[in-house]
Amino acid sequence: MNKITPIEYFHKNRERMLEELKELLRIPSVSAQPFYKDDVKRCADWLINHCKKIGLIAEKRETEGNPLVLARTPGYKEAKYRYLVYGHYDVQPPEPLELWTKTKNPFSPVIADGNIYGRGTADDKAQLFMHLKAVECFLATGTPLPCGISFLFEGEEEIGSRSLETFLQKHAEDLSCDLVIISDTGMPALNCPAVTCGLRGVLALEVTLTGPNRDLHSGIHGGAVQNPAHVLCSMIAALHDQDGKVTVPGFYDEVCNLTEFEKKQFLNLPYNDEEYKKSLGVEELFGEKGYTSTERRMARPTLEVNGLTSGYQGKGGKTIIPSTASAKITCRTVPNQDAKSLQNKVCAYLEKICPKTVSIKIEKEQAGNAYLIDPAGKSVSAAIRALEKAFGCKATIMREGGSIPIVVDFKNYLKADSLLIGLSLPDDNAHSPNEKFSLECFDKGIETSIYLWNELVS
Ligand code: BES
Ligand code: MN
Ligand code: MN
Repeated sequence: MNKITPIEYFHKNRERMLEELKELLRIPSVSAQPFYKDDVKRCADWLINHCKKIGLIAEKRETEGNPLVLARTPGYKEAKYRYLVYGHYDVQPPEPLELWTKTKNPFSPVIADGNIYGRGTADDKAQLFMHLKAVECFLATGTPLPCGISFLFEGEEEIGSRSLETFLQKHAEDLSCDLVIISDTGMPALNCPAVTCGLRGVLALEVTLTGPNRDLHSGIHGGAVQNPAHVLCSMIAALHDQDGKVTVPGFYDEVCNLTEFEKKQFLNLPYNDEEYKKSLGVEELFGEKGYTSTERRMARPTLEVNGLTSGYQGKGGKTIIPSTASAKITCRTVPNQDAKSLQNKVCAYLEKICPKTVSIKIEKEQAGNAYLIDPAGKSVSAAIRALEKAFGCKATIMREGGSIPIVVDFKNYLKADSLLIGLSLPDDNAHSPNEKFSLECFDKGIETSIYLWNELVS
């Protein structure tokens, strides 16, 4: 009797696999909010059980934070080639709930118009699940894998991967591999699958200005004392010039410019400013002068205010001069920049431009570097071949503006590069209401993963 191939097995079992994915999506594993602590743990347990069910050797590793899921194919340690699939099972908070439409409940996934909707679909549950299902297709059909495959899923990616970094320091040996495979990024369009060769880094800080020692009556005191909200606004306004350049001294010093080759590749990506504007609901795009919007997003450093707080925010009015004003700020960094020293430059500049009328306190948070992999390297070519087989069209290379800070630690501690094959589409609404993942991407993603292993070893 003829055995069936992994691809045939996938098509026979696709509906069941989608049901399993829905089960995974129903667990509200929100890492940012303590309310969901038990659900996060339940999600790790669900994954452990699922890994065991498909024939992997799986174990839960407790950390100071959320548990890690570690699983491997039988015989992993002795395999000639060893690949580590990384993903994260934690998801962003689902708020604002009232803006979810296809499904009213972000944790009751629904399938509609060729997509699966729900929190964590694109980022990152459906994407990590594709690789598990691909390996199941080999194990269930008795098809030999040309390599050992292990899985590492964490539950703290959306809050900075702190426990995983500590774990990598201690257990590098345990996780040793030739290459890390990650599907947690995007691609430009269904007919344009792409390998991501660069990610931006990210650094964060929170600045707090304090003026008077309490909120003041703005009639009694207004005019005689500086308002920290005003100071904060003018300081923030001073962080960019008219041309959209960041004014922090030395901000662009180490930036590695794009090569002509990369610039050309980027021009071929199917991004269109007119459509982009429309999809965002803005009249005009804005950014650093002298660069295309694709270059700005993928390869230029930026500084953004993420949140502003000061004074009275409730219903109605309140005539006060607030005592404090604060801003959460992040910068995206690009290859060659050192995130830590850039963080220091931003802090120093904020302190320098702060007037004596208020006091300033800056809380430094994470600082992670950008990542770059050789676009002409063997693993990128292997991934391109796997994508082309699965999607039936040309695949290309790109960079992403988002960050997965742990890839730098994989390089430092495991000495392994990360191959980024993400299949999320630009309208997937990661971190937003109505997050979705295309079922076509899910199908092609499983097929890509099935093809990938043989391409990587050839
Ligand atoms: N999957 C994203 C990162 C991403 C998305 C990279 C799209 C490239 C394209 C990840 O889950 C994420 O949200 N990362 C955070 C990191 C931050 C919390 C340190 C980010 O980029 O904001
Ligand atoms: Mn992600
Ligand atoms: Mn995310």
